[in-house]
Amino acid sequence: MPANIVIGTQWGDEGKGKVIDILASRAQVVVRSQGGNNAGHTVVSGGQTYKLHLVPSGILYPETMCLIGAGVVLDPKDFISELDEMERRGVSTANLKIDPRAHIVMPWHVRLDGLSEKFRGGNDIGTTGRGIGPTYMDKYERCGIRMCDLVDPAVLAEKARATGRLKNKIITAVYEGEAVDIEAVIKEYNAYGERLKPYMADVSVLTYEAAKAGKTILFEGAQATLLDIDFGTYPFVTSSHPLSGGVTIGTGIGPKMIDNIIGVAKAYTTRVGKGPFPTELNDATGETIRNKGGEFGTTTGRPRRTGWFDAVIVRHSVRVNGLDGLAINKLDTLAGIGDLKICVGYVKPDGTQLRDFPASLEELADCAPVYEDFPGFDDDITACRRFSDLPETCQRYIERLEELCECKVCMVGVGPDRDQMIER
Ligand code: IMP
Repeated sequence: MPANIVIGTQWGDEGKGKVIDILASRAQVVVRSQGGNNAGHTVVSGGQTYKLHLVPSGILYPETMCLIGAGVVLDPKDFISELDEMERRGVSTANLKIDPRAHIVMPWHVRLDGLSEKFRGGNDIGTTGRGIGPTYMDKYERCGIRMCDLVDPAVLAEKARATGRLKNKIITAVYEGEAVDIEAVIKEYNAYGERLKPYMADVSVLTYEAAKAGKTILFEGAQATLLDIDFGTYPFVTSSHPLSGGVTIGTGIGPKMIDNIIGVAKAYTTRVGKGPFPTELNDATGETIRNKGGEFGTTTGRPRRTGWFDAVIVRHSVRVNGLDGLAINKLDTLAGIGDLKICVGYVKPDGTQLRDFPASLEELADCAPVYEDFPGFDDDITACRRFSDLPETCQRYIERLEELCECKVCMVGVGPDRDQMIER
C-alpha cells in the first residue's frame, strides 16, 4: 500500500505511535500534516527511548524522508531542542523538511493560551498550554507568522511588530497579563530562523513527487477524531483537523492519492482534558485500567480519564475518516480486570435511543451508555502473535467490535513493544 494514513479514532493517546512505528519502518516518506507540539509519542528503538512531539517518527530510519506539512503549527524553540536531542544521540535530521507555509507558534500564543484558559475559570478547555489554539486563530485571522517569514529577518521583524503589538494589547488590556518583549522575541526568533532555514522545502511538491515515483508514504496523524474542531466534542477539542481529510489539506495533496486509512483505537477509552465522556469509569476498575495501561499523558503527564470501549464513537470515526481498517491497541490491559462492557448506543433521559454520536455536548452529557456485557479474561496474551493464539473470549470481543464499528480489525496490540502486534 503506497500511501497510508494513521488516524486516532477516540480522544487521542490510542497508541498511534506504535502503529506508526511499524508502518514507518516500511515507508520511504513520513509526513505530519496538522497539530503541533501538543502531540507526543514515545518511540523505543535499539533499547533507547525517544520522546517525539513535532519530529515525524520516521526520523529513526536514516533513509526515510520526514516531512512537516503546511497544516502543522511549529514551535521553533521546542522543535530545535528536539533536533538537538536527536543529533546528540547520533540520529541524523538531514532528511527532515518543513513546509514554508507552516505557521509558527510565537511566545504571545503560549501566553494567550494560558491566560484565556485562566479567564474561562471552571469552564476551561484543559489545553496542553502549548499555544496551539491561539496560533491557529491567527492563521485564520490572517495575521500569522509562517515558516517562510521566520527565515527572512526583515519580514519577521515587520510581521512580529505588527502582530505582537496587537497581541500585547489583548494580553495586557483584556487579560491583565504581562506584555511580551517584542524586540527580544524578534532577536530570539531570528536565530531560530537561521537555524531552521536549511530544513525549509515545499512539502506538497516533495510528497507529490514521492507518490509519482511510487514511494511508500505514511501520513502520521496527531491527536484524534474526537478532538477534531468540527467532528469532535466541541469546544473540548484541538484547533486542527486530525481527520483523514485534514491530512490531504495539511500536506497539500489530493484525496485520490491515499490508498489506505487506518484508525487506531484502544480496547477501552481514555481522554485527557475536560468534556463529557459517556463510558467514563470513576471507580476502582477505571483506576486499575489507568495504572495497568500507564494512562498518563506523554506531553503533560496528566492522569488520563478511563472508560469502557465506546462503539458509538469509533463508528463515528469510521464514517468521518472513511476508515479501511482498525488497529485495536492494549487488549492486554483488560486481562484480569473482570467482566467487560462495550457501549453499543446511548439513551437519553426521555428514553430515546441514539445510534450516532450527537453534535451537541449538552445532549451528549445527558446520554447514558447502553452496554453489552462480555466475559472477561485472565490469560496473559502478551506473547500471542496470531489472532488464533488469542483466547476465545478475546477473539469474540474483537469480532464484536468489528461488527459494532462496521470496520474490519486489521491489527491487535497485545503489549507495548513493536513486535507485540497481531496483524490480520
Ligand atoms: P490543545 O490542542 O493544546 O489546544 O488542547 C485542546 C484539547 O486537546 C485538550 O483537551 C488536550 O488535552 C487535547 N489534546 C491535544 N493534543 C493531544 C494529544 O496529542 N493527545 C491527547 N489529547 C490531546
